Amino acid sequence: MARKSIGTIIVGEDNSPNPSEFNFVLTKSEEEFQLEKGMYVIVPCDDGEIIATVSDVYKTNRYFSSPSAVRAYETSGKTLASIFPADRWEHIIAKAKPLGIITDLGIQRLLFPVSPGETVFIPESKVLQKFLGLEKTNGINLGKIEQHDVEVQLNLTRFLQKHAAILAISGAGKSYTVSVMLEELLSRPKKQGRIAMVLFDVHGEYKGLGDEESPFYKHIEIFPAAAIQFGTHALRARQFAIFEPQITSVQTRELSKILNKLFEEKTKKNETYTISDIVKELEADEHINQRSKEALIGWLYTLEETRLFGASEYPVLEKILEPGKLVIFDLSEFTSLKLKQMIVSYILYRIFDYRKKGKIPPTAIIMEESHQFCPEARLELAISRPIIETIAREGRKFFTSLVLISQRPVKMSTTALSQCNTHIIMKVLNPYDLDFIGRSSEGIDRATLNTITGLGVGEAVIVGNAVNHPIFVKVRKRKTTTMDTQTLEESAINFDT
Ligand SMILES: Nc1ncnc2c1ncn2[C@@H]1O[C@H](COP(=O)(O)OP(=O)(O)OP(=O)(O)O)[C@@H](O)[C@H]1O
Ligand SMILES: [Mg+2]
Repeated sequence: MARKSIGTIIVGEDNSPNPSEFNFVLTKSEEEFQLEKGMYVIVPCDDGEIIATVSDVYKTNRYFSSPSAVRAYETSGKTLASIFPADRWEHIIAKAKPLGIITDLGIQRLLFPVSPGETVFIPESKVLQKFLGLEKTNGINLGKIEQHDVEVQLNLTRFLQKHAAILAISGAGKSYTVSVMLEELLSRPKKQGRIAMVLFDVHGEYKGLGDEESPFYKHIEIFPAAAIQFGTHALRARQFAIFEPQITSVQTRELSKILNKLFEEKTKKNETYTISDIVKELEADEHINQRSKEALIGWLYTLEETRLFGASEYPVLEKILEPGKLVIFDLSEFTSLKLKQMIVSYILYRIFDYRKKGKIPPTAIIMEESHQFCPEARLELAISRPIIETIAREGRKFFTSLVLISQRPVKMSTTALSQCNTHIIMKVLNPYDLDFIGRSSEGIDRATLNTITGLGVGEAVIVGNAVNHPIFVKVRKRKTTTMDTQTLEESAINFDT
């Protein structure tokens, strides 16, 4: 199909065309072509093709450019339009900002102005996809750039290798977007490259995905929080100190000695151990300072009361994580945030350890309500933050990626959020959150940031590593209808075990 010409570059009153802006007049009628703010246009030139976005659209009519003339005519009882062919002199002018130039050497920055008189075209889908860094096929299809009817297919590696964040107010469509992303990941055939997926479902809203009638039923496994058991023998003293941050560094060292001894003895006999075994060992130890001993035993009993610590791990993470499979940890039945954080901390610690040893496939960890799990708060209130920050910093090397979802980005760990190189931003209203997003999102400019408050449900801006330029996407409809992603009240935060 021939490329569609829509306008001609004109000399603007604002010293344009210049390398960062040009104006053009729409040469098609409004019936023929609806020019909108945010659209992409293309201008061929000697060095290649310049791609630009329409930053503003306005109408002009020279018959109405003199206020005194308009007033004089209109007060005489006649309208200007009834005397002159004024409607024929109405023009649509667009301001456009060049994003770059596609040359034989690749995409480059535009350093020269376009020429007045040049023709402006609408880019073909494939040109736009290439320029924006989207895949034509085999990508993660989140929806469309509506104005151009172009699918937003993100390259899996670019999207998930360096972590991502989905940020928006409640009800904007974050969970819905996650379910679209999961559909895409679950539908990938082996040859396109698959990853294992782990989802922490705080509200139990993804349970439907695992229903028998769901097309992904066979690829999903759901574990309720109450069924989860930590393998006590898999935990080092440092992990215990994260669960009970009051444990001092001296006590952690003492505990470490006890655990090493126990681990060695039990492994020889092919046995595991529980917290009671650690307590017995502590009681029998004569070298350890009495006060440390009592304090440690006290902490350990508190941990045992959570009933999370067992002799063996359930589920066995090494066995359940497979490429193309989604494991959901349903935390909805637990009201204690501390217990939920402990579960997240344990599972992430184990996943990261297994990944470093190459025992599980590359894994994406999707975390709803991330501000609850990696808040910028005291460590006692943020048990799962250290491991989330570790994965945020080092996970990329081991193909362990995070997708952090939150309606309060300002409360999240800046370390974790700053490592999320792709941001999917949906409607945000809070000025503090907006300001925070502006500072923490790679490649977001003021103009894009200003549009975020006006986004509708299911509309998003994607910025960062997954795309070459910020992209507005209308998230596609889900293929499955089994998920219940109705807006839920944030579950009560209760920090007592
Ligand atoms: N792309 C979309 N297409 C159609 N409906 C959508 C889309 N995105 C969201 N919705 C609808 O909007 C409502 C809110 O979406 P969702 O539950 O995903 O919001 P949320 O951002 O996760 O909110 P919360 O922060 O409260 O969890 C849901 O009823 C959902 O069905
Ligand atoms: Mg949600």
